Amino acid sequence: MEKFIVEGGKRLTGTVRVSGSKNSALGILVAAALADGECLLHNVPDETDIRIMIDILIELGVRVEWLEANTLRLRTAHLRSYQAPYELVRRMRASFYVAGLLLARVGKAEVPLPGGCSLGSRPVDFHLKGFQALGADVSISHGLMKAEATRLIGTKIYINRSSVGTTVNLMLAASLAEGQTILENAAKEPEVVDLAIFLNGMGARIKGAGTNVIKIDGVKKLSGTEYTIIPDRVEAGTLMIATACTRGDVVVEEVVPEHLRAVVLTLQEAGVTVEEDLTRFHVVSDRRPKAVDTETAPYPGFPTDLQQPFVALMSTADGTSIIRETIFDRFRYVDELRRMGADIKVERDTAIVRGVERLTGAPVEVTDLRAGAALLCAALGAEGATEMVGVEHIDRGYERIDQKLRALGARITRFHAEGEWPSQE
Ligand code: EPZ
Repeated sequence: MEKFIVEGGKRLTGTVRVSGSKNSALGILVAAALADGECLLHNVPDETDIRIMIDILIELGVRVEWLEANTLRLRTAHLRSYQAPYELVRRMRASFYVAGLLLARVGKAEVPLPGGCSLGSRPVDFHLKGFQALGADVSISHGLMKAEATRLIGTKIYINRSSVGTTVNLMLAASLAEGQTILENAAKEPEVVDLAIFLNGMGARIKGAGTNVIKIDGVKKLSGTEYTIIPDRVEAGTLMIATACTRGDVVVEEVVPEHLRAVVLTLQEAGVTVEEDLTRFHVVSDRRPKAVDTETAPYPGFPTDLQQPFVALMSTADGTSIIRETIFDRFRYVDELRRMGADIKVERDTAIVRGVERLTGAPVEVTDLRAGAALLCAALGAEGATEMVGVEHIDRGYERIDQKLRALGARITRFHAEGEWPSQE
């Protein structure tokens, strides 16, 4: 178990650069394997989830190498297997994207069903319904999805509720299908748009990404291309909220402001000053935030992945805020926030957060990626020291987060089981 010791109460000041989007990179890595040829991807964040996806693609026969810090080269002459390795797939839900890849390129896929996680059950029924609509025979046995199709045939598919993963998986499969596929009620997240732009750069014919109707005209083959991943809007939002938690003054750069419109407006409603230009946010807070009610929603609504850090900020607001989580069951971290003095009641899908003057440091356990982000934000603003165990969850989706925060003045030290890991600047 890795841990952080955070000495709270230090204002974050300075400038920080956001890494590439984990959730965009995961879909684009799989899409790159659809091509006969070489893809060069820039601004790929070096995070655990990315490394798991790379290992899965290598197992399937893709040649992947880091050319420099955040640039990957992928070459896929052919895929040597249609079976995704259970040991790797079970560790990360997005690995289910290889089902779309294998069906499209090999016509056969055997992929373990992703397990549940601390976000509650994570079904893939919409994905399976989509594959069947495209003409695949799909069966489930012993926790394994088996799918086979001599040829995928384009069709109209209604996705029962806004689902990023389903939209991504069906775009991958439909890109090489025969004829046109129309995805109705498609997800509109920026990561879906990034994937569509990348696929079109490979020769796919996709229109409407970013709206809830996406049309994909299947092509015979896709070729390699070079692409730069969009910035990670969730990391950007986390850094902005961390700044507010410490009453800091930080410029967050390499962002796409449009991707964070709901977050910016919510932070401004809470009394945080946020100014922007084309690629940066300047975040300043010098007082307790005001209590703000909000609820998570598919893009462009308030992102579910920032619900936890935002609740951490509201824990010291001047007043009571009501935060409703409409996408996942993801309030487990509240127990840990309570250990730091937060006054929060959770009733079904809603957290009632009574702001306290200040949180206090305490030993806490990180249960999942965004819960870790919440506890980190809370610890940075708390009085005294917080020991966070299980920070490997945070490393799944935040690149070098402790180094970034130290550069902003945070007093945070990373420890390994065998002792302190020297802080590499
Ligand atoms: C993606 O997860 C993201 N992960 C999540 O980020 C993000 O929270 C989520 O989208 C919502 O924005 C990646 O992009 C790798 P969904 P995904 O399919 O695709 C239900 C993070 O921290 N559903 O949009 O799994 C589902 O249970 C992660 O970076 C079905 O019922 O989410 C949920 O309630 C966490 N059946 C809702 O739809 C299905 O077949 C939306 O899920 C698929 C989904």
